[in-house]
Amino acid sequence: MDTFEEIKREVFVEEEIDPTLDLFEEIERLKKEKNAVILAHYYQDGDIQDIADYIGDSLGLSQQAAKTDADIIVFAGVHFMAETAKILSPNKKVLLPDLKAGCSLADSCPPHLFKKFKEQYPDHLVITYVNCTAELKALSDIVCTSSNAIGIVESLPKDQKIIFGPDKNLGAYVAKKTGRELVLWNGACMVHEIFSREKITKLKERYPNAKLLAHPECEDVILEMADYIGSTTGLLNYSSKNEANEFIVATESGILHQMQKENPGKTFIPAPPNNNCACNDCPHMKRNTLEKLYLCLKNETPEIFVPGHIIERAVKPIERMLEISASLGL
Ligand code: 13P
Ligand code: SF4
Repeated sequence: MDTFEEIKREVFVEEEIDPTLDLFEEIERLKKEKNAVILAHYYQDGDIQDIADYIGDSLGLSQQAAKTDADIIVFAGVHFMAETAKILSPNKKVLLPDLKAGCSLADSCPPHLFKKFKEQYPDHLVITYVNCTAELKALSDIVCTSSNAIGIVESLPKDQKIIFGPDKNLGAYVAKKTGRELVLWNGACMVHEIFSREKITKLKERYPNAKLLAHPECEDVILEMADYIGSTTGLLNYSSKNEANEFIVATESGILHQMQKENPGKTFIPAPPNNNCACNDCPHMKRNTLEKLYLCLKNETPEIFVPGHIIERAVKPIERMLEISASLGL
């Protein structure tokens, strides 16, 4: 039998696109012809968000993947998201425009090392953030996202011992908010861990009325300064409902597209990071382009495959997350 890595092999599509084609029209046509749905994360390019049937945070995207009646799911996001869709809808064809769209956070937790880590805490329940591989989900008891992590921990008995991985920043935030002691895996996201407290402080002096919005994958020093902390959907909703006119946004810059679209009169400023390119782009998310999305729908490749024995184990903690979320009204 093929190994998991071999099954995840890359299919190269080297194809010229006719420059006279209107890709928006072509994608719409192919979607209807093939009964396909495009699910896109807020960190995708604006063009991709505009052509998507559904845009959302990780929880919303999982809920859509579980209930869609399309034959093909084109996942405009990163690999772990498309894998989650495949696990929830194993009989559907799940496509990812660029198979190399990975995630530094998922990579920071190799399943064989996590398995050894977990063995040190045999009486602990394992909660894993959805930003991890299918193999890691298969080692977990409950999956969570940034929008339900606190609710899921609070739904468990107070004396329940818990391992939380792979994001140490989200884990520390959940521990702080719930008052629970969580055993944390030492992983982090390359985009969210480099925001600069000093540069944000200076920006706040320039924009004294601006609200600071932060994703819980950010480090504690940034979260401490934030006016609102939440998932991408949470940040978007807050920016639309709040009466402030200026917002400093400490998460991947793709979310600014929807914020600006929903609130044309408001000003959104990306929080400055401590890196040379001074941008908040996730290099993995930004591998997907409208051209790759078109080719992927046209050629029905690259496709996501997850071995049956992994699906069997990984689906349980994801379904548990969806059940708890539904009971919490999320
Ligand atoms: P949410 O959209 O669930 O907040 O997740 C953010 C993220 O890091 C996705 O990679
Ligand atoms: Fe992974 Fe961070 Fe990119 Fe999200 S933003 S896909 S967590 S590397």
